[in-house]
Amino acid sequence: MNGKQAAGYLAADWVKDGMTVGLGTGSTAYWAIERLGQRVAEGLLIQAIATSSASEELARKYHIPMIEAAQVDRLDLAIDGADEVDHELQLIKGGGGALLREKLVALQADHFIVVADDSKKVDQLGVFKLPIEIVPFSYEWTLRKLRSLYPADFQLRQQDTNQLYVTDNGNYIVDAAFGRIEDAALLAQELDHVTGVVEHGLFIDITQTLVLGFADGHTEVIE
Ligand code: 5RP
Repeated sequence: MNGKQAAGYLAADWVKDGMTVGLGTGSTAYWAIERLGQRVAEGLLIQAIATSSASEELARKYHIPMIEAAQVDRLDLAIDGADEVDHELQLIKGGGGALLREKLVALQADHFIVVADDSKKVDQLGVFKLPIEIVPFSYEWTLRKLRSLYPADFQLRQQDTNQLYVTDNGNYIVDAAFGRIEDAALLAQELDHVTGVVEHGLFIDITQTLVLGFADGHTEVIE
């Protein structure tokens, strides 16, 4: 069992009968969904919403009962991965492009659990390029605006050489190389106010629990 699997499997044990659960996206959340699928097959009674079409498909494959996100007013628990996590459990997310739905789901959850292998733990956020979701309308203007505000490298994410990456919400992603981010909370607030920006991958003061998995299969829980 590798670190991602160990973290995903342990986090799935937080889920109890009757819960409404948010399912994250990525190769670590994958294991949590798989383990939940096993538990559902053993009789666990839950309902879930997914943060991406990929995770929805996976959950359906495991016969996890799915409901529409719009039918949910709160979630008992959400489990998701991260691209970076610091000592205060602040995150960069969105490497898989699902940041908008991931943030919506995380904010609705009474308990947000992040699952990651130990490579995701950092002293300071920012080595991983920060994903920023922007609307396609006037996207060149939004890109210029971001470039005028920060001395960082901003690149539109490509699907392949001829095509821009499009999110499940029909938007584009800009990956921003800030380097070490001195004040992530301040940057998050600023980005919230840039017109054309739908959401960004800074998850500030949202995480309650971090489940870290290590290559030898052991786990560490940080709260
Ligand atoms: C997707 C995400 C993922 O949670 C993040 O990229 C981590 O993925 P992985 O577990 O595959 O390393 O934010 O938008």
